[in-house]
Amino acid sequence: MSALAPPYGASQLLPRISTPERMAQLQREAAALPSVVLHSAAAANAVMLAAGYFTPLAGYMDRADALSVATAMHTSEALFWPVPILNRFLEKPAVAPGECLALHDPNLPGQPLLAVQRVSAVELLSADDISRMASGIFGTDDPSHPGVSTFLEQGNWLVSGSVEVLHHSYFESDFPQTFRTAMAIRSEMEQRGWGRVVAFQTRNPMHRAHEELCKMAQSAVSADGILIHMLLGKLKPGDIPAAVRDTAIRKMVELYFPPNTVLVSGYGFDMLYAGPREALLHAIFRQNCGCSHLVVGRDHAGVGDYYGAFDAQAIFEQVPPGALALEPFCADHTAWSKRLGRVVMMRDVPDHQPEDFVLLSGTKVREMLAGGEALPEEFARPEVAKILMEYYQ
Ligand code: ADX
Repeated sequence: MSALAPPYGASQLLPRISTPERMAQLQREAAALPSVVLHSAAAANAVMLAAGYFTPLAGYMDRADALSVATAMHTSEALFWPVPILNRFLEKPAVAPGECLALHDPNLPGQPLLAVQRVSAVELLSADDISRMASGIFGTDDPSHPGVSTFLEQGNWLVSGSVEVLHHSYFESDFPQTFRTAMAIRSEMEQRGWGRVVAFQTRNPMHRAHEELCKMAQSAVSADGILIHMLLGKLKPGDIPAAVRDTAIRKMVELYFPPNTVLVSGYGFDMLYAGPREALLHAIFRQNCGCSHLVVGRDHAGVGDYYGAFDAQAIFEQVPPGALALEPFCADHTAWSKRLGRVVMMRDVPDHQPEDFVLLSGTKVREMLAGGEALPEEFARPEVAKILMEYYQ
């Protein structure tokens, strides 16, 4: 059996979480440090760094790295990386390079200490810097894009430097069954004896098309298992909360997958809606979990009409050869075929017409659930639909 994929850009995972002994020391030291409350996006970056997902990064990027990553997808040291990892503020924090800064958690009651940052630079970004970064990451600087609007609100003061993180914020307390670090996922997959693993990224409940997509991907790449890895952080209004989605996904796995073929877990990050660039970030942190493949389907991490349906697949051609050990499993649009009575990938049934598929838009699904109307069994498993209907009502 093959081994799990190696960590990204390092010989071992490099989680930025402090040891229990170091934690008490950090708490004491932080009391005497200048302190700031993080933006949620920066807090989410700290949690990803802590949990080993962003190996080999040690902290927040400076302006040169951020511009290089946004425009050319690599750091100044030539590490392939698709999305700048930033800590930004509206006002200049009272800290100088070489000093430490106490970073407080915006998402926990009482805003406790989340991390201590060793500051390497404090830089003021220009409006042009911000616009170039947004355009690189999101393909647009249109403030009506939900990811761009979150990006724009974070301020122009950029504070770079390495971090030591004390805990995993609200993710551990709110999702004890589901939040896992990259280390925990690796070790669980090793214990199961998995070598080739296909990851399924999701921010949505899973319907029959998604269930079949996972099964098709597993079979196509001869994977030992599937990592269903859900986003647990902030979403745009209208998206289904993580707790509801978690319950629905677990029910689907329990009833419709063979035992011990799926590991359901989640990671603590806010959704960027950055489409192609986010797909690359997804690939990096699934490689850090040990996965050999990542499902990249239709409009992966997309929103509205900002990206072409398969842009997130095409961008993998821009990955420098040898940079990633993980490969995308590029899936076509998947849906129930009325003619064949099963879920198919559209590229596999060239004789089908649009009316041969059961297709429901997200808006239509929400309207049906809110109105207490059952979803077609071809579209959603009834047990999953029931959980979603209870939430909507
Ligand atoms: S995402 O923002 O996390 O990508 P979502 O949870 O909706 O959103 O999708 C998870 C994965 O399934 C993505 O790779 C997406 O491209 C893929 N996907 C979702 N629905 C379909 C579909 N009907 N056909 C093909 N791929 C799909």
